[in-house]
Amino acid sequence: MVDTQKFINDAIHQIQEHSHDEKVIIALSGGVDSSVCAELASRAIGDRLIPVYVDTGLMRKGETSRISEIFGHIGLRVVNAADEFLDALEGESNPEKKRKIVGERFIRVFEREAIATGAKFLLQGTIYPDWAESERGIKSHHNVGGLPLTIKFSGVIEPLRDLYKEDVREVAEALGLPREIAHRMPFPGPGLSVRVVGKVTREAIEVVREANAIIEEVLVEKYQPWQCLGALVGLGTGVKDGKRLYGWIVSVRAVNSRDGMSADPLEISFQDLQEIESRITSTIPGVARVVYDVTPKPPATIEYE
Ligand code: XMP
Repeated sequence: MVDTQKFINDAIHQIQEHSHDEKVIIALSGGVDSSVCAELASRAIGDRLIPVYVDTGLMRKGETSRISEIFGHIGLRVVNAADEFLDALEGESNPEKKRKIVGERFIRVFEREAIATGAKFLLQGTIYPDWAESERGIKSHHNVGGLPLTIKFSGVIEPLRDLYKEDVREVAEALGLPREIAHRMPFPGPGLSVRVVGKVTREAIEVVREANAIIEEVLVEKYQPWQCLGALVGLGTGVKDGKRLYGWIVSVRAVNSRDGMSADPLEISFQDLQEIESRITSTIPGVARVVYDVTPKPPATIEYE
């Protein structure tokens, strides 16, 4: 980032210019990207900004209530669309289709909100790696490749298009956003659906939600990873309560990275790994095994899908 203050002034100007005195809806997920966008837009256009948070049912444990608390003061609209997303995803196992389904649902929800509120423009926190990876065909991030062509907004505004994650964090600090937001771990738009390798079911989403909560509790404060997560990577045989169990395999991933384009696995103490394992297998029924992934990016990506 060359000049944070210049970026802020330019972005505010760009939002004012591109919104043509109309109302603008923002997809606020509580991540640093959308939070920075919301702050910039609120400075740019005040109450013409309509911040909407969609509870997709694919968010981390407790996330919806936390975001509602933090952004309540800017008039956040919270839309409970969990059934809609989970019904659409039920049984889907293709990662690209999951992204497309989630992206399309998002847009539909926003179109409904836009009609209800009279918003004509959509503000998105797309950053450089999102569209660069989509263009190179690595994956279609939900807010780029998944955008259906039938979109009914007059336009999409993406003020963070040229920034990397670290730049966005700098801007967040310069805007005075709380540290909790400025240094939040990234969380993918398609949420927990891409942390279930294979078929999405309501049960699998619940299992992976609980596993992610435990992993974050053990690792975030102590190691301050760039990102940590758990994914259901398959099924395997185990033994629980003296009976054989064909249960979930949870893979734990914790990485350091500068911008998400490459990443290194974190060195975690064996004791902490054992704590994660014992808490997951003792409190989440149906989990037979916990493993730790030591693969850097490349060759692996950070997420499993
Ligand atoms: P990968 O898995 O490609 O992830 O190494 C790099 C970073 O991007 C996040 N990620 C996504 N974010 N929509 C998003 O908004 C997506 O579809 C998506 N896929 C991956 C991932 O969590 C990591 O921080």
